[in-house]
Amino acid sequence: MSGAADGRSGAAIAGGAVRGSGAASAPTALRIVRLDAALREIGRRRLEAGLVDICHRTGLYGRDMAGTGIFDDRKLFALFFVLYYPRFEPSSGFVALEGEGKAARVRGYCVGTPDSARQARSVRRMAPALFLRMAFAALVHPESYRIARRLVAGAKAETAPDPSWKDYPAHLHINVDPELQRGGAGGRLIEAFEARMRELKVPGIQLHTSTENAKAIPFYRKRGYEVLSEGAPGQSLWPGFPDARDLAFCKRLGSAAKTLA
Ligand SMILES: CC(C)(COP(=O)(O)OP(=O)(O)OC[C@H]1O[C@@H](n2cnc3c(N)ncnc32)[C@H](O)[C@@H]1OP(=O)(O)O)[C@@H](O)C(=O)NCCC(=O)NCCS
Repeated sequence: MSGAADGRSGAAIAGGAVRGSGAASAPTALRIVRLDAALREIGRRRLEAGLVDICHRTGLYGRDMAGTGIFDDRKLFALFFVLYYPRFEPSSGFVALEGEGKAARVRGYCVGTPDSARQARSVRRMAPALFLRMAFAALVHPESYRIARRLVAGAKAETAPDPSWKDYPAHLHINVDPELQRGGAGGRLIEAFEARMRELKVPGIQLHTSTENAKAIPFYRKRGYEVLSEGAPGQSLWPGFPDARDLAFCKRLGSAAKTLA
């Protein structure tokens, strides 16, 4: 088992500096560290705060949710979309850490599961935290609460296993701090995730994005992902995107699978 994948050493796949697309950003040394190792290094509170922040700043089809009036409860948003993974699948995901030790800062993540069917059952373990936060949001963030109720209703309706889980049982979510995007961090994170899935003998990965996500689509194509299915318009979670369609991408793994260096 490699140092990167067994979570004992983030340094094993730490690499060169990345430069973000933000005009003022300086070269930043990032280490790609597995979630369980990151939890030990910086602690749950700091790790989750970093995930909450990046999730919200990139959550509107790749753009910042802040100031849009859509889902302003950042913690509730992250409870739906990212916090399950450090809590229940810490040996599958990775973060990009800047700095060392307790003060290191999360600048990106690629989280997921090797087994979407198992995850669909296990995600119920988030219910107590979710419903507690929804009770808070009902009073303080009514707009977030309304969307949260729709998300919960949608999740309850999706009870049948997805047939595509057979060939592509793993799924992932990847988000990089906007200041560092297009500097190589996303590529290093997804490579670490793919390597971990290969190690677990997973045959394929799938993920969901949207036709509205102008950053993610070229990124996945460049990394060898192909369109698995495309949804109908008019099903956007977020108001103001009448033409948005869900896009599922997939990639077969295995010894012959190609990844970019
Ligand atoms: C998609 C994402 C994870 C890629 O991470 P990254 O660190 O920017 O990616 P890398 O630097 O390793 O790779 C850069 C490649 O990604 C794509 N890409 C990244 N940003 C892009 C942008 N603003 N416009 C077009 N393509 C972009 C391109 O293919 C680019 O290659 P190029 O520079 O040669 O054209 C990152 O842009 C991100 O976090 N976006 C917001 C969150 C998101 O949309 N996540 C996916 C949800 S499904």
